[in-house]
Amino acid sequence: MNNPNVVVVGATGAVGRVFLRILEQRHFPVNRLRLCASPRSIGKRIRVHGEELPVEETTPDIFDDADFAFISASTAVSRELAPVAAQRGALVIDDSSAYRMDPRVPLVVPEINPQDLEWHQNLTAIPNCSTTQMVMALYPLHRANPIKRIIADSYQAVSGTGTLAMDELRQQSRALLDGASVKPSVYPHQIAFNVLPHIEPFMEDGYTREEQKMLYETRKIMHAPDIAVSATCVRVPVYLSHSEAVHVEFEEPMSPQEARELMAAFPGVKVLDDPKTNTYPLAIDAADRDEVFVGRIRKDSSHPNGLAMWIVSDNLRKGAALNAIQIAEEVLKRELLKPRG
Ligand SMILES: NC(=O)c1ccc[n+]([C@@H]2O[C@H](COP(=O)([O-])OP(=O)(O)OC[C@H]3O[C@@H](n4cnc5c(N)ncnc54)[C@H](OP(=O)(O)O)[C@@H]3O)[C@@H](O)[C@H]2O)c1
Repeated sequence: MNNPNVVVVGATGAVGRVFLRILEQRHFPVNRLRLCASPRSIGKRIRVHGEELPVEETTPDIFDDADFAFISASTAVSRELAPVAAQRGALVIDDSSAYRMDPRVPLVVPEINPQDLEWHQNLTAIPNCSTTQMVMALYPLHRANPIKRIIADSYQAVSGTGTLAMDELRQQSRALLDGASVKPSVYPHQIAFNVLPHIEPFMEDGYTREEQKMLYETRKIMHAPDIAVSATCVRVPVYLSHSEAVHVEFEEPMSPQEARELMAAFPGVKVLDDPKTNTYPLAIDAADRDEVFVGRIRKDSSHPNGLAMWIVSDNLRKGAALNAIQIAEEVLKRELLKPRG
C-alpha cells in the first residue's frame, strides 16, 4: 500500500508533541499528516519533518481520507471523535481511557499482545501509562511462572496529567522558592514540594480510578482474568517518568536472578540492578528513553513466592506516544488496515 495518511488529534499536547517527535525519529511512513487540537490552537504551526504544518479544526471530514487517527486529547474528545473517525474509515489509536475496557476494542502493548490487533474494528486503545510500564516488566515473568497477585505503589510525574500540570509545578516551585504563597488549580492540593495520594476520582470501593485501571487493564492485556492487583497511585513533583514499587506473588518461587534474566531478554525492558554501585532506575535517566527500566529486584521477605522491584519509564513515550506508534507499525506489518468503503 501507499504510505498512510495520518491525523493527530491533540497535536499540541504533552503526548501529541512527543508523538510527532517519535514519528520523525522512527521514520514512520506518512503520506499526508494533518494536525488538530482545540479551537484555541487553530492557526498555530508545528514543525514536523522540516515542514511547518498548520493546526486545523477537528471536524469530522478531516478523517475522510485518513488511514490512521491518533487521538490524544481527553476522554470526552475521544468519546465524541473516535466513532466518527472509525466510521469514516480511519483506524483509531486512542490514548484516552474511553474505550480501553470495551470488549470490542483491543487494548494493546505490542510487545505483549499484538495478536489482539487482528480483531480490531477500526478502534484500538493504548493502556494507562502506569499500567503499560508495569505489564512490560511483569509479562516475561508471568509467562514463565504465572502471577497471582500484584501490589503496586506508583510515583507518577505531573506530565501524566498534561501540559497544564507541568506549568503548575513550575509556577508553584518558583513561587514557593521566592517565599510567595500558591493556589492550586490543576490538583486539589499544592504539588510542588508535596506528594498527593490521589490520581483521578475516588471510586466507591475507596480506590481511585487510576488504581482500578492498573487492575482491569493488566488483566485484559495479559489475558489473565484472575490476577489480583492492589495499587496506590501517587502524584509526585517530578516532570517526566513514572516510578513504581511493585511486589509480585507467583504460583511458584522465582529467584531474583531468574527474573533479571527473563526481563533482560524481553524487548523494550532494560535491567539496571547493581546495589553495590547504587545502580537502579531513576526518573531523570528514563526521561526521553524508550525502554522500561527495572531494578531493586529482590526476594519479597513477606512471601516465599514473592519478588519486589522498582520499575521506571517515560510516561509520555512508552506510556503513551511510543506505544501508539508501535501499534500502528504492527498494524502495517500485519496488513490490518481495513479497505476503505
Ligand atoms: N500524559 C500522559 O502521560 C498520558 C499517558 C497515557 C495516556 N494519556 C492520554 O493522552 C491524552 C492527552 O494527554 P496529554 O497529557 O497530552 O494532555 P494535554 O497536554 O492536556 O493535551 C491535550 C491535547 O488535547 C487537545 N484538545 C483539547 N480539547 C480538544 C478538542 N475539543 N478537540 C481537539 N483537541 C483538543 C489540546 O489542544 P490545545 O493545546 O488547543 O488545548 C491538546 O493538544 C489524554 O486522553 C490522556 O489521558 C496521557
